[in-house]
Amino acid sequence: MKRIFSGVQPTGNLHLGNYLGAIRNWVRLQKDFGDCLFCVVDLHAITMWQDPKQLRRGTREVAAAMIAAGIDPKRNVIFNQSQVPAHAELAWIFNCVARLGWLNRMTQFKDKAGKDRENASVGLYAYPNLMAADILAYKGTHVPVGEDQKQHLELARDIAQKFNNDFGVNFFPLVEPLIFGSGTRVMSLRDGTKKMSKSEASDYSRINMTDTADDIAKKFRKAKTDPHPVPASPKEFEGRPEAENLLGLYASLADAAVEEVCRRFGGGPFSKFKDALAELAVAKLAPIQDELRRLQAAPDFVDGVLREGVEKARGISGPVLREVHEIVGFLRL
Ligand code: TYM
Repeated sequence: MKRIFSGVQPTGNLHLGNYLGAIRNWVRLQKDFGDCLFCVVDLHAITMWQDPKQLRRGTREVAAAMIAAGIDPKRNVIFNQSQVPAHAELAWIFNCVARLGWLNRMTQFKDKAGKDRENASVGLYAYPNLMAADILAYKGTHVPVGEDQKQHLELARDIAQKFNNDFGVNFFPLVEPLIFGSGTRVMSLRDGTKKMSKSEASDYSRINMTDTADDIAKKFRKAKTDPHPVPASPKEFEGRPEAENLLGLYASLADAAVEEVCRRFGGGPFSKFKDALAELAVAKLAPIQDELRRLQAAPDFVDGVLREGVEKARGISGPVLREVHEIVGFLRL
């Protein structure tokens, strides 16, 4: 059976990378799959320090943003990770399956821990094991994410395979990453070689889902480019990561091929292209923002969606975990 699982951290504002790389694809996939699980991963969030009040607020906000973006809470399961015990429990079992050598290769840990590795939380190190547990607690098969999560999903496959081999079972599926569309790697507006991220200090590096039309116009106008005209073909992207990123963003927002966008704006000045990009981004985000505002004014509704999601998620993961206990040899009395 095919089952979609994906997640997003409730840390700070969602940005255009989260939307184009992940959430918009979830909205599109729900039509073919139905019964998808979309998780606000609060356990992952605390691998770095989070202010408790902000965490609670962020959790509601991310759930609301998923709904505002078009995830149908009636057809899908929207919930927060900490409220379903299977995640932490299976993660512990996977801590005993995954090898240190595997985790040592994870580039996201290296990026996030930075130079002060000794001071990173153990949770940050074991983060990918929890991710594997998120998916496999539901025997998830397909995981729509942005490019940056690919390595973690390969690890989830390795964990599933080793578990199956160690115990001589064919229990966990090997998850397939779904990385598609032209927004799989949205880059920072200040540096086209770095991905757009919630953690970059400058807010000018990203377009937040909640930015006003003015903010969006200002951020694109200030976005780094180069002194040449807009490339007329993707062949001219070589050595021009900022141009590639902005044209890719336009293509992604317009649902057009990047070649077409190059043909349309190629040879012209960036200033004109940036205005068109800002206008397009504002037009695409406005309906989501309207809906988000409406949902923010109705926290009880959002809480109700999460509560129902938690119930359903427990209902699916509970029996999977019981089978895992059986396989591992935990004595049930
Ligand atoms: P998070 O919260 O960092 O990001 C959520 C989703 O947004 C995608 N994304 C991007 N896509 C394109 N360009 C970008 N600049 C960009 N930045 C972020 C991410 O790839 C992701 O799909 N570890 C995950 C959350 C998670 C998860 C899971 C995902 C926890 N458990 C199980 C899938 C399955 C994360 O931190 O995503």
